[in-house]
Amino acid sequence: MNDIASRDDIKVFVDAFYGGMKSDDLVGHVFIDVMQVDWTHHLPKMYDFWEMLLLDGSNYKGAPMRPHLEINQKVPLTMAHFDRWFEMFSATLDAHFAGPKTEEAKTKAWNIAQTWAYKLQLINEQ
Ligand code: HEM
Repeated sequence: MNDIASRDDIKVFVDAFYGGMKSDDLVGHVFIDVMQVDWTHHLPKMYDFWEMLLLDGSNYKGAPMRPHLEINQKVPLTMAHFDRWFEMFSATLDAHFAGPKTEEAKTKAWNIAQTWAYKLQLINEQ
């Protein structure tokens, strides 16, 4: 299995991740039913985001936590959501790639998920 090395590789795991996640009743439900996400808009943003994190890309502009604050006002996002998100993300990576970049993607995803889950937990406890 190859490691993640290009934007095309990023497209492979991002498309596979969101493709599989749509049928998940915990996290997929938030994308499909709660937020009615426009995939033609969301997916290119996610390619840019992961290209920035893994390959020093500079297309991503934004504040990645912000939409999650808005989602959290409609449906509280808990550690259970983030754990499921990470479980699916990590399994998708392992199904397609292996190597240091792939491990880096998992570590970065884990750190972001934990940070956001913790921040949202503080907000939701107020
Ligand atoms: C509880 C799990 C999560 C749920 C339910 C969730 C859901 C969403 C939704 C509904 C959007 C808005 C899509 C749109 O309408 O454009 C979004 C955007 C985004 N998500 Fe998540 N997300 C989760 C976890 C994560 C994690 C852990 C990361 C990063 C590792 C992440 C990264 C992003 C980014 C970069 C955006 C685009 C932000 C922007 O607009 O610039 N998400 N997410």
